[in-house]
Amino acid sequence: MAQPISLPRSCTLSCTPPTALSNSNEPDLETAPTLPRTPTKPRTASSDPSLVSPATERVKQIFKQALPSPEALAKAQNARASQQILAEKGSPTEASQVFVTWGTTCYVTQERLFVTEEKAGKGSASEAWFANEIKPLTADEPRRIVLKRSASSQLQRENALAQTITLSSPSKRKKLNFTEAVFHLPEEKACIGIYEACQSDLNGLTYSPNTPASQVLPILRDIADGLCEITRQGIAHCDIKGANLLVTQEDGGSIGDFGLARRKSTQRHSTSLTPQYAAPFIWENILDQKYRRNGYQGQSADVFAFGVTLQLDVFARMLPQLANHYQIDITNKMNAIKPLDRAVDPKWNDQILLKIENKYRQNFQRIIYRPEKLVCFKPIQYVLTQILETIDLFQGHINSQEMDKMKGLAQLMHDLQDEDPKNLSAAMAMKRLDSLINLPEKTEEEETSTTAVHASAIPSESSSV
Ligand SMILES: Nc1ncnc2c1ncn2[C@@H]1O[C@H](COP(=O)(O)OP(=O)(O)OP(=O)(O)O)[C@@H](O)[C@H]1O
Ligand SMILES: [Mg+2]
Repeated sequence: MAQPISLPRSCTLSCTPPTALSNSNEPDLETAPTLPRTPTKPRTASSDPSLVSPATERVKQIFKQALPSPEALAKAQNARASQQILAEKGSPTEASQVFVTWGTTCYVTQERLFVTEEKAGKGSASEAWFANEIKPLTADEPRRIVLKRSASSQLQRENALAQTITLSSPSKRKKLNFTEAVFHLPEEKACIGIYEACQSDLNGLTYSPNTPASQVLPILRDIADGLCEITRQGIAHCDIKGANLLVTQEDGGSIGDFGLARRKSTQRHSTSLTPQYAAPFIWENILDQKYRRNGYQGQSADVFAFGVTLQLDVFARMLPQLANHYQIDITNKMNAIKPLDRAVDPKWNDQILLKIENKYRQNFQRIIYRPEKLVCFKPIQYVLTQILETIDLFQGHINSQEMDKMKGLAQLMHDLQDEDPKNLSAAMAMKRLDSLINLPEKTEEEETSTTAVHASAIPSESSSV
């Protein structure tokens, strides 16, 4: 019997060892009669693993680089095999999930591979991952994209909406983070959507301590421009908030997550949204909120939600970061800027909820019903005053032109939360942001005189805010 030959430890291949050659009973192949040749099938990459197609070779190279492990080749073959199956049997809009290891997932489509890297974020309905898009048949370098996986048909709806859009100019594309492609995962009953990769969402922004307004204004201006564009297209986004607004690789802004977007309708409809960002004019009363019924979300509701975003996702994040940097205590101010949460007593029936809403109409700008709590927003004029006072605390640390930009942005936050939808337009927001970006620089003289006026307002270290 043949003895197995020993392989170096590192080799994981299974080999059939050569048989012993010097057996005298074996026929002598030198003298054996020749047989007519049977025609052989042409060898192809798929029928003979020793013939490697350029695509397989490319996949192997990429996987070797990406995953330097003994399993990398097997995975590359696996990916290639899946791709061939899809190419033969699948549809161009289908993908197959090939493997999941070390937190990495590989999806294969007829023409592309997507290998996930780190998580980009998580929403209520999906997970987003930074991933490399690899086109095995081309020499293109892998492209970094964001891959969103969703269990629902939301992505297909979003993609269908994206297909109906004709942009007013190509530069608007950057401002709308629509799906580039959507693939169905038949075995998983899910979809993956491919998007341009952004740095983070607005909530993930780290503010520059010296120029926080100059940093964020162009991002917000791009977002307002994006809002103008979707208005032009007759679309309402219906879920504007910091987590759905993105900061691009070029430090611009882009509107993401069109999962709830709809073509403008004049009819009232059942509302899906993030309640904290909802305009009061969407519903008639708190019970419409509770039962998510009879609402109307149009483009002015998007503009109102943009105003709430400035409050909750820009100022409520920027100011504590600055305070932390300059060692200023703004705890009390922040408590005033943020809404109050009040627990809902299970005994409160619909009648009581209506009474509460009426009674506190004067005290709060709006009361948002969540199943477990009421979120009570303080009057917007009060919030504005608190923000302006907080900005003043940075006098002496941040130059006055920058402070003016911050204050102008605070005023815009106030104006965009107008209770009359007729006063709300994305074009107005963009115009205001434009003029803040272009605010003229102060002369040295003006700068010194403002610093002198405000110097007395800087609290001493011991004074409390
Ligand atoms: N293109 C992108 N670039 C970078 N990060 C992204 C991108 N798209 C999404 N993200 C991140 O992933 C998170 C979740 O994505 P998304 O908002 O699209 O999911 P969702 O489930 O639809 O969210 P929601 O809870 O609003 O319904 C975002 O909040 C953001 O942090
Ligand atoms: Mg989202």
